Amino acid sequence: MRFFPILCLVLFFSHEVASRQRSRSKEKKKAKELSVGALGTPSSIEFAFRLYRVLASEFPSQNVFFSPMSVSMCLGMLSLGSGLKTKAQILESLGISPQQGQEDKFHKGFQQLLQRFSQPGDGLQLSLGSALFKDPAVHIRDYFLTGMKTLYMSDTFSTNFGNPESAKNQINDYVAEQTKGKIVDFIKDLDSTHVMVVVNYIFFKAKWQTAFSDTNTRKMDFHVTPKKTIQVPMMNREDGYSYILDQNISCMVVGIPYQGNAIALFILPSEGKMKQVEDGLDERTLRNWLKMFTKRRLDLYLPKFSIEGTYKLEKILPKLGIQDIFTTHADLSGITDHTNIKLSEMVHKSMMEVEESGTTAAATTGAFLTLRSARPRSQNLSFNRPFMIIITVDSNVFFVGKVIQP
Ligand SMILES: *[C@@H]1O[C@H](CO)[C@@H](O)[C@H](O)[C@H]1NC(C)=O
Ligand SMILES: *[C@@H]1O[C@H](CO)[C@@H](O)[C@H](O)[C@H]1NC(C)=O
Repeated sequence: MRFFPILCLVLFFSHEVASRQRSRSKEKKKAKELSVGALGTPSSIEFAFRLYRVLASEFPSQNVFFSPMSVSMCLGMLSLGSGLKTKAQILESLGISPQQGQEDKFHKGFQQLLQRFSQPGDGLQLSLGSALFKDPAVHIRDYFLTGMKTLYMSDTFSTNFGNPESAKNQINDYVAEQTKGKIVDFIKDLDSTHVMVVVNYIFFKAKWQTAFSDTNTRKMDFHVTPKKTIQVPMMNREDGYSYILDQNISCMVVGIPYQGNAIALFILPSEGKMKQVEDGLDERTLRNWLKMFTKRRLDLYLPKFSIEGTYKLEKILPKLGIQDIFTTHADLSGITDHTNIKLSEMVHKSMMEVEESGTTAAATTGAFLTLRSARPRSQNLSFNRPFMIIITVDSNVFFVGKVIQP
């Protein structure tokens, strides 16, 4: 049995020094409405939340952070190379009907996404891609190579896995370069049984449309549990925010726009209602939030934090019905003629930092006071206990996470 590890890698971070401008005209622009737009397909959003629930139950009382976009892209590439039952399991778990037309549309969706983000955008830096490292001794089908190249814009490299050390260096160097040095030593072990590695990465760097002022950031209590309190740096900005109180699943949601078309949704469950919110998350709820957001003046407290998640998806995806590919029943006949190949590893890693910086400076303290007296009292909203985060870009769900301990 030769092993065929797939490494899905994702990286998200948003830290850049804000250019602190004091312009009042920017003050108006920052209230720009969040667009509803056409959300990513309903099935892709349902997949994101199903995967979230499995991760949250596998790792109780821990932070969760992953990119459903990156995971489904990896699965898309694998489905391209798998046959019959193996392929059917992958597509079914992603909610794709096995009809040829649907499957083509699914792959084309990624192709369009990759094309769109290959152009440098307006302040939002997003690079999304994948690469295939294969041993020259393994013959890979042209059909698969072409699909990887045209649909997934994947680079292909010839790698001598007979020399695991140099193969590892080649892959790690590539990952480090693509992620601008943010992830080094991604692959820890590689032995000569490996014949092919697929890496998928997302590099996202965004600034808030409106920065938080770092002079407002101070240490405050965060209630990890009702009994355990820690001190965290808490950012603060009083402003008009997109807000909704969802009584159906008991939570408050604040949408904070990044520059470009990315929005971070911060979801604060009512006291003791985290489970209810996690169970209630679905495509319709997300759509409702984006549709029903109203502008609300909030005195918002949000921890400055970083979060990361590393998951061995070969242990997780079988719980979503994707089983065969990780066993000797794997049918990877679309990739190679070698019949004794299974997928031994599928690693997913993602990271995110939440900081003050934005493209527009937060209102200065002076301006703040005038605004405060001229406007109705704002509501105090503090993310000082576990909360969830969802990041959408162009209405696709790119990241989902839960912050238990910032
Ligand atoms: C709450 O549920 C009602 C009834 O199903 C629905 O009409 C409403 O849109 C829901 N609200 C939200 C915020 O999802
Ligand atoms: C608002 O929340 C913060 C953080 O929990 C708290 O320190 C502050 O006293 C609150 N302000 C009011 C007016 O309740």
